[in-house]
Amino acid sequence: MDGAQIEGVAIGENGLTLTLPDGSQGYYNFWWLRDNCRSSFDAETRERTFDIFHYATTPRPAEARIEDGALVIDWAGEDHVSRYPLGMLADYATGAPRHDPADLPRRPWYSDHYPNVTRVSHPLLLESAEERRRWMEALLVEGIAIVTDMPDSDEGLTRTAELIGTIRPSFFGAYFDVRTHIKPTNLAYTAKALELHTDVPSEELAPGIQFLHCRANSVVGGQNLFLDGTAVANDLRREDPEAFRLLTEIDIPYYKEHDGIDMRARQRVIELDRHGEVSGVTISQHMADVFDLPQHVLDSYYPAFVRFGRMLQEDRYVMRFTLRATECIVFDNHRIVHGRAAYSATSGERYLRGTYTDRGELRGIYRGMVSTGRFG
Ligand SMILES: [Fe+2]
Repeated sequence: MDGAQIEGVAIGENGLTLTLPDGSQGYYNFWWLRDNCRSSFDAETRERTFDIFHYATTPRPAEARIEDGALVIDWAGEDHVSRYPLGMLADYATGAPRHDPADLPRRPWYSDHYPNVTRVSHPLLLESAEERRRWMEALLVEGIAIVTDMPDSDEGLTRTAELIGTIRPSFFGAYFDVRTHIKPTNLAYTAKALELHTDVPSEELAPGIQFLHCRANSVVGGQNLFLDGTAVANDLRREDPEAFRLLTEIDIPYYKEHDGIDMRARQRVIELDRHGEVSGVTISQHMADVFDLPQHVLDSYYPAFVRFGRMLQEDRYVMRFTLRATECIVFDNHRIVHGRAAYSATSGERYLRGTYTDRGELRGIYRGMVSTGRFG
């Protein structure tokens, strides 16, 4: 029946063509149609329970027709009729990725952003879904937000983080305490300046969302430095496209040796999303390994790397402020670059407690809140 027209549906060798409600022609593969019959999905778990692998050859329609705004297929060789609303078929007509409500355009920000950083109050977050949505949206769009009115307790941080994900340990453990240590294992645990960086790129999947809960801060100095890495990378793209290309294409090695663990991972300094837009940056001089790239590649890579590193330090990008006790700054560790000015360790107390959750889980919770999912 190849090429046959059956009630508005043209059957081809591997699929069928029909007219969609907007008048355009839509083509659909038979395997895809059989695999995505509504009955393939369990009503409760919404997972696919149908096994397309038991077909040795292409499933084919014995009959196909348009009926009441749906494509109806009676499958050959089996007792099964599928019904596909034309609206559902239209969603998959172009091969474009399914609409993602968490795929929000990023809004770049600069050094003057501090007064406009989204602030949400801890007690309000606990009781208001709308406040949690506003918070998550800020993290997706601007990559940063401050939670105020935090309780002075370990549990306060846990409860905050668990609103948007599951605590995700790094090889330092589930939580980390940033204060001056007698025998520091990490530069963060000293009173020295901490260069601008993203956390733990030595892990294959570097931590996603970072929480820094300020429990005490009465020292002299120690200003917090935060900048939007995507804003800087977008400027580099305009100013030096070749440097930008190198930083988006070449992986560089990161490492951390700690308590008998030899952590190593390779990362790109600038990360692009599926639209080709800058989605993040990864930078850490203190965890950068010796670059084991061909030395001639380094002839062009190092100038690009240094140019970007110097741009990160420019005043137009770096937001400087002092995090106050009772505040918890929350940010996308793959986008927001942070650091700290030196402080006087004897001038007072400084204690930040931190943890991480996952970026994918943040988006998942956000989608669950603002949309109804695939099956309505
Ligand atoms: Fe850090």
